[in-house]
Amino acid sequence: MQLKGIDYIEFYVGNARQTNHFYRTAFGFKPIGYAGLETGFRESSSFVLEQSDIRFVVTSAIVPDSLIAKHVNLHGDGVYDIALLVDDASATFKKAVERGAKPILEPTMIEGHEGYIVKATIASYSKDLVHSFIERNTYSGFSPHYLPIPNTISVTPTGLTEIDHIVINVNLGKMDEWVDFYSSVMNFHQLQEFTSDDISTQYSSLTSKVLQNSKGQIKFPINQPAQGTRKSQIQEYLDFHHGPGVQHIALKTNNIIETVRQLRANGVEFLHTPDAYYDTLQQRIGKIDEDLKVLKDLNILIDRDSHGYLLQIFTKPLTDRPTIFFEIIQRKGAQGFGNGNFKALFEAVEREQEARGNL
Ligand code: FE2
Repeated sequence: MQLKGIDYIEFYVGNARQTNHFYRTAFGFKPIGYAGLETGFRESSSFVLEQSDIRFVVTSAIVPDSLIAKHVNLHGDGVYDIALLVDDASATFKKAVERGAKPILEPTMIEGHEGYIVKATIASYSKDLVHSFIERNTYSGFSPHYLPIPNTISVTPTGLTEIDHIVINVNLGKMDEWVDFYSSVMNFHQLQEFTSDDISTQYSSLTSKVLQNSKGQIKFPINQPAQGTRKSQIQEYLDFHHGPGVQHIALKTNNIIETVRQLRANGVEFLHTPDAYYDTLQQRIGKIDEDLKVLKDLNILIDRDSHGYLLQIFTKPLTDRPTIFFEIIQRKGAQGFGNGNFKALFEAVEREQEARGNL
């Protein structure tokens, strides 16, 4: 499978117009395209937003009897499609279906005056999370079905550059079936595994396997809950999302301090990190370039592996349900996912889970 990277992530939401506004004003994404009644879409409305190499599509239903409305009704606002860039959408689709993928959209040519794209879609292990294969050829816009949004809207970028990884939460006992899907259908391989000993707190626990495509541009850590004395945060997600789905999207920055300052100024809320986390940090991670006091003030977490270190922070859920959130990450050599921070993070998450009465 010649997967070249993530082309875009499509969210199904209750109100695409307002979600578009949120990602613009809070996260600094630039709206570049629109599809809806004015472009011949009778049942849905979509906005495309961009920041460096990250592209989001937010879509909502404008009629009651729609699969989009059903998806949002069941799962809340969240990710429907992780679309992947390929050279040949038809060939990739055919190969995936031969290997057992469930077809959702046969290869379809989307044509306009200035060229065409080809889109084909398969279900992931869950039919409510899909993967489109997007073939762009020479077409330079997002899609011929979209109207470009004039360049007059003011947007202040927040320094987010690309998608680092996307984490999927799955039901207890289903991890290996998901791993099998990505290995056998998509040719991914397993990069790392974290057991419940690596990732547990006094209360809750999870296991995680990291899958990536052959060239490493696409990374999907997959989490399943594990038995703890209280409810795992993965189980809380599954209860409110009503099934498996995307838990978080990690967005890269080259300057996490500036990015987090800007996001905070825009009103983005982050998980609180206990002060005690920073007391023992120096011993755990050694020397770093950043001022520890600044990192502590901004609640940024740090972790180290044999290749270097990374800085990361997690937003609060982006929706009313305690489901999807973003991670902001800056890598300084480290290739991991901050597993040394899992415990610190989870304790922070659990304080919030307790406040919601779900621990
Ligand atoms: Fe992550």
